Amino acid sequence: MLEALDEREAFLQPALQAAAQRARLDGRDRGLALELASGVCRWRDALDHILTQHLSRGLADTPPAAVRVLRLGVYQLRWLDRIPARAAVHATVELARQVAGDGPSRLVNAVLRAVQRAAAPLDEATLLRLAHPAWLRAAWVAEGGEAWADATARAANAPAPLTVRVDAPGVDRAALVARLIDEGAEAEPAAHAPDAVHVRHHPAPFEGAAFGDGWWVAQDEASQLVVHLLDPQPGDRVWDACAAPGGKTRAIARHLATDGRVVATDVHPAKAKRLGRALADLGPTVEVEARDAADPPPGPFDRVLLDAPCTGLGVIRRHPEIKWRRRPEDVIARAAEQARLLRAAAAAVRPGGVLVYSVCSDQRAEGPDVVSAFLAERADFDLEAPPEGAVDWRPLVHGGCLRTRPHLHDADGFFAARLRRRAHGPREAP
Ligand SMILES: C[S@@+](CC[C@H](N)C(=O)[O-])C[C@H]1O[C@@H](n2cnc3c(N)ncnc32)[C@H](O)[C@@H]1O
Repeated sequence: MLEALDEREAFLQPALQAAAQRARLDGRDRGLALELASGVCRWRDALDHILTQHLSRGLADTPPAAVRVLRLGVYQLRWLDRIPARAAVHATVELARQVAGDGPSRLVNAVLRAVQRAAAPLDEATLLRLAHPAWLRAAWVAEGGEAWADATARAANAPAPLTVRVDAPGVDRAALVARLIDEGAEAEPAAHAPDAVHVRHHPAPFEGAAFGDGWWVAQDEASQLVVHLLDPQPGDRVWDACAAPGGKTRAIARHLATDGRVVATDVHPAKAKRLGRALADLGPTVEVEARDAADPPPGPFDRVLLDAPCTGLGVIRRHPEIKWRRRPEDVIARAAEQARLLRAAAAAVRPGGVLVYSVCSDQRAEGPDVVSAFLAERADFDLEAPPEGAVDWRPLVHGGCLRTRPHLHDADGFFAARLRRRAHGPREAP
């Protein structure tokens, strides 16, 4: 898995699924594999910092396969307390022999023993700084100061719960919580979205009867809140412009019940095809099409959701590989694309209708800045407060928009704005 992440830019979750199937791992081994691979990915540069103190040749001159194995070994020695050190060293040296040969395995043995003998580990704050690219930390400091950046980094590097949404008509959240506990998990209602449940330590959630019976789907609480911000009403015609893999489309369809229609589009034909299959059970409520959001389907629509392609920097607690792959210039490029798509999506909203813009990024340039520029251009749209009802928005709203953060809400880092098109022409210039 670590090789796939490094060499082929694979994503952690699919790599885990493939590896677990190949090796026929049971639930416990699968959990350990995920812990090791995601831990190494989360703490990568902090692990490398420790390693460089014990590698006379330096990291760049050590074979990449040996570096990966060394990271695995140091992670077990320094971060995990349930694997005895002797077992960790033995298994890691064996692994080095298999993937890199005898020479590298001797090096791994020597380095791990040196790490074991070395003095006290670095403090948590230093490790967290090392474990995030400096430019990303600088963006967090700019957003809220040093303490905010520390708290953000801590939450970004902690494992996230599996968060699910009750998806079966007629099933209530308390019943789902009880059933998940019966299956051996820790489960509790989430704090903000009315259908969200946090699940921890489930032995095999996707093999449980509750999942088999269609009681829940995996969806982060922040993603659920975006749909509450859109607030689809029975009878509405909704366009979900960037819909794959369909988490929000499914939730929108639940809000509409059987009365209403959602047109779900995605620019990639293969993703649109998978989306159509994934949402087939919702029947005629959902219509799926491969389409660029810059070219709206025939409208107008009562509600439009633009869940725009973004850097994904708000979901690094679930996808830690993302932080090592992004550069500041990616944020700028994404922001330009988001502005372009938002302009296009706006054309499909009927006068008096609602447009929600959302991203799973905590970067200012992809969130508040895109919306301010849009509002400066479009005098016929206003930023609107979230709808009253199912959600208490007070802890979630900042500057009039939804802003979730792992360290504040135990939800992914999302930004979303609810914009309403004026029914009777543009506002007056100030
Ligand atoms: C953030 S994801 C959407 C997640 C989805 N709304 C959900 O809740 O499951 C963004 C999606 O936008 C799609 N996309 C990227 N550029 C697009 C474009 N120009 N038009 C339409 N879809 C686009 C990507 O293929 C990706 O599936």
